Amino acid sequence: MKATALIIALLGAAEAVYIPSTGTTSLREEAAKKDILIGSGAINPAYLNDPQFAAVLALQFNSLSPENEGKWSFFNPAEGYYNWTSLDRLVNFAEDSNMVVKGHGLISSCCNPDYVLNITDPTALRAAMTAHFEAFMHRYNGKRVDRWDVVTEALKTQGGGLNANIFYNVLGSGYIADAFRIAQAAGPDAKLFINENLVESLPYKRQELYDLVSGLVADSVPIDGVALQMHITEVAPIPGVITDIVNSYKALGLEVTIAEMDVHTLNATLQTDIYGAVIEEALNAGITDISFWGFTDKHAYTWLPGAKPLMFTERYKPKGAFYATHTALTSFINTP
Ligand code: XIL
Repeated sequence: MKATALIIALLGAAEAVYIPSTGTTSLREEAAKKDILIGSGAINPAYLNDPQFAAVLALQFNSLSPENEGKWSFFNPAEGYYNWTSLDRLVNFAEDSNMVVKGHGLISSCCNPDYVLNITDPTALRAAMTAHFEAFMHRYNGKRVDRWDVVTEALKTQGGGLNANIFYNVLGSGYIADAFRIAQAAGPDAKLFINENLVESLPYKRQELYDLVSGLVADSVPIDGVALQMHITEVAPIPGVITDIVNSYKALGLEVTIAEMDVHTLNATLQTDIYGAVIEEALNAGITDISFWGFTDKHAYTWLPGAKPLMFTERYKPKGAFYATHTALTSFINTP
């Protein structure tokens, strides 16, 4: 591919879109050679109105997931009422771009509508979960959505117990097993993940998640793996930790993925180094499903003022983080 700016014909549209060239192959080309999913989460379908955004997404990634649009209140704000416009748009884009989709948001502490928050009866809450999961999963089963975050952020941010969300308050800790069982019945062909943050940097929380997940496995709960969010602020995980996490879950028969990586720092060199080190270790540890929480700093979600956590600038120019990721992918030797 040329080092000059690249012109891409957009998905059959007559117009051409101008995006800065990386001067390299794309991430998805390299990932495909090694059977790796390389994705971008945090895709708000409205961003697709920007042809450059759509072009870079389809060029660089083979997977996507919604930002908030799969969270409960976003498409099912009232009992029995569903608005599929945003999610359909994402799934159709994935179809047109030959990408897969990760469903994100089935159970989240965020964005639960009043009709759910007002339920106090366990049977009624399980029935609401079943109706919600069936609506979401049945609509997209067999249509590009190959895996789901069933429960996101079950644990308190710093560890030390389960988040007291509506599901915990009404159903107790068993809500997690309930959610996986309901999800498995509604989407028997998809992989099901528990999605958690900060376990790579908090040893106590890491153990807590392991205890929780190994308990689910011991109870024959249908879970396929653990999705590490991997939102990193200033400090990379200690080398070896990602490998240990992967191995510990492998011993339970589970997969580990990276679901929402980004690196929040004002130091661009540190950011590049962290992207490279994490992706290199993840690949060597056997992780084959890696997604970032967005790809352009134009639409970044950060808690560190001024940080630009993603791989491309606001104008879609590749940053050091892109090249470090690309190098990690190209140098990775896939030994089956
Ligand atoms: C974030 C979104 O990016 C924000 O727009 C929203 O205000 C809050 O949620 N982990 C998750 C995601 O699993 O759902 C969160 O998304 C980021 C942290």
